Amino acid sequence: MSDRKPRAPKPAPPVSSTSSRDSSRLTRGDYPAIRPRRNRKANWARRMVAENVITPADLIWPIFVLEGVAKREPVASMPGVERLSIDQAVESAREAAQLGIPALALFPYTDPELRTDDGREAFNPENLVCRATRAIKQTGLDIGVVLDVALDPYTSHGHDGLLIGDEIANDETIAALVRQSLVQAEAGADVLAPSDMMDGRIGAIRTALESAGYHNTQIMSYAAKYASAFYGPFRDAVGSSGFLKGDKRTYQMDPANTDEAIREVALDIAEGADMVMVKPGMPYLDIVRRVSETFKVPTFAYQVSGEYAMIVRAAQAGCFDCDKAMMEALMAFKRAGASGILTYFAPRAARLLNQD
Ligand code: PBG
Repeated sequence: MSDRKPRAPKPAPPVSSTSSRDSSRLTRGDYPAIRPRRNRKANWARRMVAENVITPADLIWPIFVLEGVAKREPVASMPGVERLSIDQAVESAREAAQLGIPALALFPYTDPELRTDDGREAFNPENLVCRATRAIKQTGLDIGVVLDVALDPYTSHGHDGLLIGDEIANDETIAALVRQSLVQAEAGADVLAPSDMMDGRIGAIRTALESAGYHNTQIMSYAAKYASAFYGPFRDAVGSSGFLKGDKRTYQMDPANTDEAIREVALDIAEGADMVMVKPGMPYLDIVRRVSETFKVPTFAYQVSGEYAMIVRAAQAGCFDCDKAMMEALMAFKRAGASGILTYFAPRAARLLNQD
């Protein structure tokens, strides 16, 4: 290539005490002795030096559940994603296990009549996600069930917490989330994923789980969750978009902040979270990197509904190949230090990975 001209010789760099493997110190004109393209010359060579790999075990598959039997209902804003009745969700669990996907995250499409001010359907032991969890756990498959802890699929105002006056009341919400957590643990949820962003909820949930004997229920906290436009299609999928009054900016984080994410994650770990999550994913890879480097705890990224929809729709419009864009985006999470990714692409990506 014409832009790879030998550079003029420069004075030798000063001898430094840092490792000679520190490639950022290669400042001299080392070409043609050094040709980075040699390591890219063939597929096998690229695979041999790849710094990151992605496997189906890195993927958590979010699934939307609805009432009924043998029902599959397309989510208009998320081409390729469907709401599934419990029997169909069980089929997806079998498929996931076969593909090597370690866990599913279940979200309910709650009947509008069951949505109330206080979101009490959240702690009905017979609610949709509890029944779906039991059905999946009864199969005995080697697969984990992750359940969101938050009130938004159950409230008539679409907020994750209790609305008192015009405020999302933190401490009253925690009491409700604790009830929801216990009901979900009782139903057999393996991982509770509080996605509500109330202060102090991880500690309260952990204490309640311990005193009720659920010592092994994991908590994956949505620790750094931003107030994001990218959740739009999800709210359509769970049917809460028509209900949501206002926005979630008094509890979800300001996209302007990064130190605040570190503080939120530190708190959730101190309060008893086993794993943490950053959400959304691709626009927040800097946060994934900072969190994974700072804390060295399992750090997950959520490639949210809007990110999924962007990729699928851009591919449909002929902008690029869907599979290629999908794999590149998923690899970006691994490169940023994520232990795993919650993604609606999970089965599609796992199928592709298993072909290789
Ligand atoms: C609800 C919740 C949301 C998502 C996961 N849990 C939406 C929100 O906070 O409004 C978003 C997931 C996605 O967009 O894919 N607490």
